[in-house]
Amino acid sequence: MLQLINIKNDFAIGVMSLNDVDEVYDLEHALFKPPWSKKVFRDELALSNRRYFVAKSNDSKSFDQVLGYGGVALMVDEAHIVNIGVAPAKQRLGIATGIVGALLISAIESRFTSATLEVRVSNNAAINLYTKFGFVPVGVRPNYYPDNKEDALIMWISDLDSSGFKEGLLELLAKYHFDHKGLQEK
Ligand SMILES: CC(C)(COP(=O)(O)OP(=O)(O)OC[C@H]1O[C@@H](n2cnc3c(N)ncnc32)[C@H](O)[C@@H]1OP(=O)(O)O)[C@@H](O)C(=O)NCCC(=O)NCCS
Repeated sequence: MLQLINIKNDFAIGVMSLNDVDEVYDLEHALFKPPWSKKVFRDELALSNRRYFVAKSNDSKSFDQVLGYGGVALMVDEAHIVNIGVAPAKQRLGIATGIVGALLISAIESRFTSATLEVRVSNNAAINLYTKFGFVPVGVRPNYYPDNKEDALIMWISDLDSSGFKEGLLELLAKYHFDHKGLQEK
């Protein structure tokens, strides 16, 4: 089972389970309007084409605390990243980088060649994050977000299966201090 250990900042990325839903919901509630309910997360985890990961603290003071989460829906011909969030106090430590990395590795393992997502046009933090992985803007969905009618930027990667993409992904994870032993063989 995929696990990424961050050797600098004392956290690890692993598969999300039903036991994590309460803590994930607390983060979701703090980060998104409107938030997904706990039931939506439980229903998502039950779907065979979803992959969800959580970042958990490895620090002895807060061991196993959920610091971030994210999921991907493996649709017919594209891996669609559906959400990603990191505890405000733990941002800029590479947690989202590890989660997006894990989501893309699971898409590659399932032989997907394209990945996509929508992001608010004003969300520079997330756009910067996705750009680091090679996502490029391909269009806009006008008035996509119901709370303020903000447009969504649609971003794509279309070469998940290329050796260049995999090398770049491993380099990025190494730069953010993830131990990725074993992934190179995949
Ligand atoms: C977007 C978000 C997930 C990033 O999480 P994170 O763990 O802080 O991200 P990382 O530490 O892995 O950052 C990776 C890169 O993303 C970019 N980035 C992250 N936060 C940023 C910010 N506040 N401003 C500008 N760029 C930012 C940077 O390029 C960063 O690399 P650097 O720190 O070496 O400069 C986090 O800010 C968050 O949860 N935001 C609220 C929820 C949200 O908007 N989710 C995305 C929905 S599409």
